[in-house]
Amino acid sequence: MAEHTSIMTAPKRILTDAMIAEIEALAPRYPDRRALTLPALHIVNDALRHVPLQAVVEIAAVLGLAPAEVQDTLSFYAFFPQDKPAGEVRAWVCRSISCALRGGEEVLEHLCHVAGIEPGGTTTDGTLTIEPAECLGACDFAPCMLAGKELHKNLTPESAAAFVRATQKRFVRP
Ligand code: FES
Repeated sequence: MAEHTSIMTAPKRILTDAMIAEIEALAPRYPDRRALTLPALHIVNDALRHVPLQAVVEIAAVLGLAPAEVQDTLSFYAFFPQDKPAGEVRAWVCRSISCALRGGEEVLEHLCHVAGIEPGGTTTDGTLTIEPAECLGACDFAPCMLAGKELHKNLTPESAAAFVRATQKRFVRP
């Protein structure tokens, strides 16, 4: 009788040596390896724009934790996309009171309309994710938005539309 051999291939490793080195470099600053979980998630998310399940398993292996422990931390924060990468630029539009009173909701709506997505969505070209956010600590400049590390102040529907166009142009692939 012929023997059946199944060829099992290990999933391709997601964490690069550079990511692991970055995680390890932080270790001396934390009391134990569990405390590195959140920084490790940020390192992977910064590199991949999401943290897929396989990355969770690999982070757990690096830190000597169970994958469920890392997944618990990830799912506690609504910050880390897991199923697919966020856009090249992730824009957080404030919807808290000062911004709401100065047209923040309309700005969010207009941004999404121009980008052709719903709040929380990512444009089909992968350039932009637009998400509602709570107070960004910049109420003096309401309505405002944090796009990557850049604060956009006193937004209007016009400046919001210009931002979407400029972002899409910036990441146009040849
Ligand atoms: S309410 Fe929008 S930044 Fe504070």
